[in-house]
Amino acid sequence: MINYELDGKVAVVTGGASGIGLACARTFARSGAAVSIWDLSEDALGAAVTSLEEYGRKTHTAVVDVADSARVDAAMEEVASVLGRVDVVVANAGIGGEAKPSAEYSDAAWHRVIGVNLDGVFYTQRAGIRAMKRNGGGSMINMASILGQVGFTMSSAYVAAKHGVVGITKAAAWEHAADGVRVNAVGPGFILTPLLEQNLDQPTLDFLATQHALQRLGRSEEVAELVGWLASDASSFVTGTYYAVDGGYLAR
Ligand code: NAI
Repeated sequence: MINYELDGKVAVVTGGASGIGLACARTFARSGAAVSIWDLSEDALGAAVTSLEEYGRKTHTAVVDVADSARVDAAMEEVASVLGRVDVVVANAGIGGEAKPSAEYSDAAWHRVIGVNLDGVFYTQRAGIRAMKRNGGGSMINMASILGQVGFTMSSAYVAAKHGVVGITKAAAWEHAADGVRVNAVGPGFILTPLLEQNLDQPTLDFLATQHALQRLGRSEEVAELVGWLASDASSFVTGTYYAVDGGYLAR
């Protein structure tokens, strides 16, 4: 395991109680950072923060629905106050949404998926950049997807939101380079997390595995390795980019 040399830094991860977000939090703590994880419930956060204890770093949790911009702003200020600063923010929280074709997609499902997966990333990015600017910069990392690059069936809101995440990443990279803030998007292939396990049956998971050149699904820790590097100074000339970690899914 690589140590990304994040000693003294403070990292925030939304959707940090599960899957890819928790793996990112663990990578940050392992690399020396204090970590704040945000999620929808106190219970989920409690279990997750316990799994960070082995690294002995300062931790902080916040119950935040990222679709609520006022709550996102307040939680970011709370992190800055409790942990002293903000250096790394991962806008990771996301949901799958309704599995229906575009012509059948409901208003409610559309608005919730866009609200969490696009508005939520925008609110987190905005609050994160404001906080990071105050200490001369930092690294903003937005969790996109292979579906931020290509289409997929039965997920129009998710595909729209993830394409949007790539767009706001590029715009903010230009806008905030002079503030010392780098902004990048990460595009996982299909990763075996509760998001997939709770929504898809085994034959579907087996089929999805075949859609990657590596012929398997990814692991959350494999995404977190890329995120750890983007958070670190080792990626100091990297901004405005979409980085695939997708087992070759897009290599067609
Ligand atoms: P997960 O379901 O294991 O974890 C997501 C976490 O976000 C959960 O703890 C959930 O409670 C939290 N969350 C959901 N809505 C929230 C909200 N409104 N506010 C705050 N927290 C909220 O899912 P996973 O797979 O770890 O996904 C993380 C991110 O990675 C998502 O943005 C997802 O779209 C993205 N992604 C996942 C892929 C996969 O195959 N698992 C592939 C590509 C991208």
